[in-house]
Amino acid sequence: MSQRDATELFSEWADKGKDVGMEKGHARSVHAMLELASIPRDTPYTAIDVGCGNGWVCRKIAQDPMCGHVVGVDGSPSMIEKANAIDSQGEYYLATLPEWQPNQQFDLIHTMEFLYYLHDPASMLKKFHDGWLKSGGQLVAGVDHYLENEDSLSWSEALNVHMTTLSIEQWKTALLEAGFVNVEVHQVGQKESFIGTLVLVGNKK
Ligand SMILES: C[S@@+](CC[C@H](N)C(=O)[O-])C[C@H]1O[C@@H](n2cnc3c(N)ncnc32)[C@H](O)[C@@H]1O
Repeated sequence: MSQRDATELFSEWADKGKDVGMEKGHARSVHAMLELASIPRDTPYTAIDVGCGNGWVCRKIAQDPMCGHVVGVDGSPSMIEKANAIDSQGEYYLATLPEWQPNQQFDLIHTMEFLYYLHDPASMLKKFHDGWLKSGGQLVAGVDHYLENEDSLSWSEALNVHMTTLSIEQWKTALLEAGFVNVEVHQVGQKESFIGTLVLVGNKK
């Protein structure tokens, strides 16, 4: 059976209300990711959440008084419908990546549990670096599916969705080859048998 698009799967999840469970499941790691972000504290910053699902991280970032503008993008119609229903003042784009590109550059790109659904996450990282980030801007990306997280290696088959499996070293190399500097790799949100969300942080010069 051919694999289905991740966006179709996640629309089904949104229709069943499973986006709420996902939000709860990711909250701990996202909290740690935003703590790791060195967001400017002297001037208002702009941010985008890529693969934003129902938009909960955008709304969390918007609560920061220093956040001047935040937008979300996701390819799942039902997720974006939910985001707009919860937050009619928010700016959410329904678009498939890597084809879509924003009409502005950002100080912060946040993305949680999105990159490995792409067939070529390294080229997405290069687009983030070259086109989406302002000079001095920062990427904070979290993935739970990676080679060292053995429990995650069955997910692609179980969900019948493509996942690109990279090791921690391969993710780090992809950031460096995309041009990021001050690259850091963390594992956050560990609990019981979960070895943690792999968090990649990098800056554009
Ligand atoms: C695991 S969910 C994570 C959602 C949200 N970041 C969170 O942490 O709750 C992955 C999201 O990425 C989106 N996505 C996957 N592949 C995509 C693509 N090629 N273009 C746009 N969105 C995509 C899905 O629709 C889904 O909402």
